[in-house]
Amino acid sequence: MTINKMTGPTKTEPSLDRRDLLKLTVTTAASTAGVWWPGASWAQAKISSNPFTLGVASGSPTVDGVVLWTRLLPSGIFSSIGNESVSVRWEIASDDKFQRIVQQGTSVATPQLGHSVHVELSGLTSDSWFFYRFHAGEFTSAIGRTRTLPAADAKVNHLRMAYASCQHWGHGFYGAYRHMAQEQLDLVMFLGDYIYEYPGSTKAGDAVRSVTGGWVQSLADYRQRYALHKSDADLQAAHLAFPWVFTWDDHEVQNDYAGDFAGYASHAEPSTDFSKRRAVAYQAWYEHMPVRSSVLTKALAGLVERSSKPTELRIYQNLRWGQLANLMLLDPRQYKDPTACTPDGRLGSGVIDPKTCESLKDPARTMLGKAQEDWLHQQLSVTATTWQVVGQATLIGPYGASTRISNDGWDGYPAARERLIASLESSSSSKVVIGGDVHANWVGHVKADYSKVKSKIVASEFCGTSITSRPSAATRTVMDARLAKNPHYIFADNEKRGYGVCEFTPAGLKTTLRVVEDVTKVDTAISTLASFSVQAGKSVVERV
Ligand SMILES: [Fe+2]
Repeated sequence: MTINKMTGPTKTEPSLDRRDLLKLTVTTAASTAGVWWPGASWAQAKISSNPFTLGVASGSPTVDGVVLWTRLLPSGIFSSIGNESVSVRWEIASDDKFQRIVQQGTSVATPQLGHSVHVELSGLTSDSWFFYRFHAGEFTSAIGRTRTLPAADAKVNHLRMAYASCQHWGHGFYGAYRHMAQEQLDLVMFLGDYIYEYPGSTKAGDAVRSVTGGWVQSLADYRQRYALHKSDADLQAAHLAFPWVFTWDDHEVQNDYAGDFAGYASHAEPSTDFSKRRAVAYQAWYEHMPVRSSVLTKALAGLVERSSKPTELRIYQNLRWGQLANLMLLDPRQYKDPTACTPDGRLGSGVIDPKTCESLKDPARTMLGKAQEDWLHQQLSVTATTWQVVGQATLIGPYGASTRISNDGWDGYPAARERLIASLESSSSSKVVIGGDVHANWVGHVKADYSKVKSKIVASEFCGTSITSRPSAATRTVMDARLAKNPHYIFADNEKRGYGVCEFTPAGLKTTLRVVEDVTKVDTAISTLASFSVQAGKSVVERV
């Protein structure tokens, strides 16, 4: 989704060789168990100022583990801790005073991975909360709080999670995250656009706060843009409070990209080798997210040589919350076919008339790729949890007020959407689909056939508004017209920024839309825009 038009300088640089990256990440993972990098005799960088300015985070929880993350960077996103590796001690305890330490060790922060640290823990007690911190030189990080998953066969009565997406730095402050950090949550599901790759706006008065740097294209550019976002105290607070799980959308690489094909942001964007750009963007994403190195390893379908095609990261995954819920996160970008019939033969997305676009009828066109579609079908048809929850990046159903469609979302991939819906129908659980991307709250139903009003409800759908990113220019009248044209949705609002909270129990789901009063104010208040309930065994959404 194009946000605005901007200009700025750029530069390119090579990414790590894929084999080097794999070697480094595997070594980093091994070092979490206290094993030093073989032949390690590096000069330890002298740390003279706090290297924990980007905070700490945790994520990818399992029944007996979690990933702890930090990245060493002295104050200032253009700074560096140097070109030497740094040893970082870590501790995880069952109390916030660290009197009952359950595991501790040392990891190596290497310059090749931007001095990021990923501690991949196992052997922890299931369904339990922990506290963690890092030490480097004389400095100690903030204390994070995280948790493990319940055992797969555990009878669990409760899961409370938030969903969020689209946090454009220049469009507002992260007050939503300050409030989210105060919620009682088990985890946060982030659904794409953690960064935006645009340069800062040159339009007077356009930015709430300035975006540092130009077009984001090189590894150094992506690292700096992530560092800019990670420097925010409110975002850090939300990472400190809970484990996060992730998928990405387009802006972690480039506006509207699809698979191996570049997108289009603006005529001012300098051209560059897209394959290399995607590879460095993916590397920077790995460096800044609390995710496992297995996303990069061939054995787990991660870092794969695809002949001449670029580096692959296997990020689609599921987390099992006992017998209560199976949480799936889809990757909607990496395996996606290019958009169809974008006007003027341009790259990226467009608004098109589906009647004049023959390619839309091609059953082979895919949003997820065959391997991911098969994986999703298997997850949905085999797993017998009360709830099946699919997190992905955008709206599932048609939502336009006219017959024209945006060709970037599921509307532009009708055959793939039919397969997605068929997979959802194959599950006997209660299904919930959660999305982002459109910078507006949408609530409603996934239908077996959207062209028939009385068609069977397959799943409930909650698409979240943005944390900060500006909405489209659609007025309330236009949003109402969209609702009238698409009765599978019962609620739509694009005026408010915020996040959603889903509370799952064996009996039902309650979803609350939390929105900030004014995203341009640091100390903005929060309130509830609307709440909805879904009874287990049914997928009918009711406003409460
Ligand atoms: Fe976005």
